Amino acid sequence: MNQASAPAKIILFGEHAVVYGQPAIAVPVSALRASAQVTPAAAGSGLRIEAADVDAVLPVELDSDAIDNALAVTARMVLRQLDAKPPDAIIRLTSTIPMASGLGSGAAVSAAVARAVCAAVDQPVADAQLNAIVYEIEKMYHGTPSGIDNTVIVYEQPVYFVRGKPIKTLHIGQPLTFIIGDTGQSALTKITVGDVRRLYEQDPERIQPVLDAIGTIVRQARQAIAGGDTAALGPLMQANHAHLRTLTVSSPQLDQLVQAALDAGAVGAKLSGGGRGGNMIALVADPSQAQAVADALRQAGAVRTIITHVG
Ligand code: PMV
Repeated sequence: MNQASAPAKIILFGEHAVVYGQPAIAVPVSALRASAQVTPAAAGSGLRIEAADVDAVLPVELDSDAIDNALAVTARMVLRQLDAKPPDAIIRLTSTIPMASGLGSGAAVSAAVARAVCAAVDQPVADAQLNAIVYEIEKMYHGTPSGIDNTVIVYEQPVYFVRGKPIKTLHIGQPLTFIIGDTGQSALTKITVGDVRRLYEQDPERIQPVLDAIGTIVRQARQAIAGGDTAALGPLMQANHAHLRTLTVSSPQLDQLVQAALDAGAVGAKLSGGGRGGNMIALVADPSQAQAVADALRQAGAVRTIITHVG
């Protein structure tokens, strides 16, 4: 294998509360991917990562401890775990996943690079090991991540995720069609996670019930998804979005896109991921309605829409 990749993801239910031990549901978006191509290089030239999208050329040196770039750190971590020397190779990374928008771009590029390094040294790595590596990278750059992004991206399966627990795949009774709408505003998850933490510490009596309520929604959503009850998911998405507003992680643009999707006939809509920008998702009862919702989102200011099917 000289080509490695990993998908984007969306969180359907439970973002932010998942950091506090509540369950969350996330699914891969396989149409958007980070890809890493391995090309052999001249003997003695060492390992280099070229990330054309961000105009970066990154040498990977084992004896460095710099954490200036997540991709170089990922490659180094993989080599150390495999007890391998940097191969003479170039890893060219490209990605169709928008950055800083709640689609898991950071975890996906880390996973693609990690897989490419394994391919370059011809040592396969199990998903569980890869997941642990990508989680370490997420921690280094994103503060206190729950681990949901790396898990859904590495395993590329719908997951019912509880922090620190073995992964549970999600049973999907009836295929679901979501429209992803991008506000075009980049937002750093580290900042929103930090703000929710401050809110929680200032007023745990008010915030804990909100987190608990989100957990209840996620458990109900899991049952509705397993039972193929798409209609029941709409009100659950609305309720989840309202709680995320209480946690201060929505934004006027996200609220506007959510409303536009509902007006266009979506069953439900909510922000997805870290919030304050990035993406929202809308669910339609029938795939034939997806384009109308996507068009309405564009009219309401979304810079990009993606229709994705789950199950
Ligand atoms: O990476 P994002 O923006 O999709 O957000 C991840 C979800 C959070 O719950 C906000 C943070 C986390 O670590 O779970």
